[in-house]
Amino acid sequence: MKVLVTGGLGFIGSHTCVSLMESGYDVVIADDLSNSSADVQERIAKIAGKTPAFYKADVTDQAAMERLFSAEKPEAIIHFAGFKSVPESVENPLKYYANNVGSTLVLCALMKRFGTRFIIFSSSATVYGDNEIPYREDMEPCRATNPYGRTKAMSEEIIRDFAASEGGRHKAALLRYFNPVGAHESGLLGEDPRGVPGNLMPYIQRVAAGKLPCLTVYGTDYPTVDGTGVRDYIHVMDLAQAHVAALRKLEAEQPAAGAGRGDSESTYIYNIGTGRGTSVLEMIQAFERATGVHIEYKAGPRRAGDLPEYYACADLAEKELGWKAKRSVEDMCRDAWNWQKNIK
Ligand code: WQD
Repeated sequence: MKVLVTGGLGFIGSHTCVSLMESGYDVVIADDLSNSSADVQERIAKIAGKTPAFYKADVTDQAAMERLFSAEKPEAIIHFAGFKSVPESVENPLKYYANNVGSTLVLCALMKRFGTRFIIFSSSATVYGDNEIPYREDMEPCRATNPYGRTKAMSEEIIRDFAASEGGRHKAALLRYFNPVGAHESGLLGEDPRGVPGNLMPYIQRVAAGKLPCLTVYGTDYPTVDGTGVRDYIHVMDLAQAHVAALRKLEAEQPAAGAGRGDSESTYIYNIGTGRGTSVLEMIQAFERATGVHIEYKAGPRRAGDLPEYYACADLAEKELGWKAKRSVEDMCRDAWNWQKNIK
């Protein structure tokens, strides 16, 4: 089966392409290179033993995407392409709605036009907003706390309504990621954001590499185990493998009524997390244990918009997809450092 992976040269997309290809799928990548580099295509090929097709394309460009669908006729889509900086989405919400929601609308229209049966959407735990923890798929989400999270929530609704309107011709899985970190064990793929990283792990990686002097811990007075923020970090390869499990689910069976969490039998929703929380200080200690590298840090004020603590209830993905995260926080730190050492 041919799978179109939008944003397939990005951090999560590239790791998912490897898992898909190792599971026997043909992969076609569409990526506008706004937050990725073209050499990732060859790195994927080195690991998977085959070069995936690549189209430099803006997924909101309907004409360009129509040419791709006409040439490749994908049977499934995994939609990663999207902007993902929370602070930037607050500064420039229209850019986020145009890109993140616009791309979803284009893909659904082309799925209908070309008969693409499946879509898996890269959603995020931010759609839950300030809800009780652990987050469960059947919760009524609160309003997401930023425009980035709202673009994910809106894309979920668009996909659910589209799939429900099509009488089962199309099936969808919405995967709500928690905090993806780490890298492929080969050290050939990993996270390398442009500029100064906003997220914790890439920042720690750069401190370890001596590219940044010191990590600022955003808030040490939260009502958590040690006063610092707690998140559900998941190894990017566990996350990649969850996409293969979700695709197999969509392929395998007509869902029994009520099997999914969607509006009808055509959409499934899953938390993709470990079900365990790790604090910032615990992450720093895990990184030092796993790598032997000291991480200099200092306490700083809370970051606007941060929630104190959230993590997944990950039972549904285990029950319905047969998928469970296997890698530990130390594995995440070890692989992230192994990748960081390879970055020039
Ligand atoms: C984690 C913890 C910070 C940086 C965001 C998006 C989410 C997803 C992942 C896209 C928090 C603390 C961080 C630093 C710190 N992105 N921290 N110093 O905010 O949980 O989630 O990225 O899908 O949608 O919301 O991730 O890594 O930024 O922060 O102390 O320099 O680390 O306060 O407690 P976050 P993060």
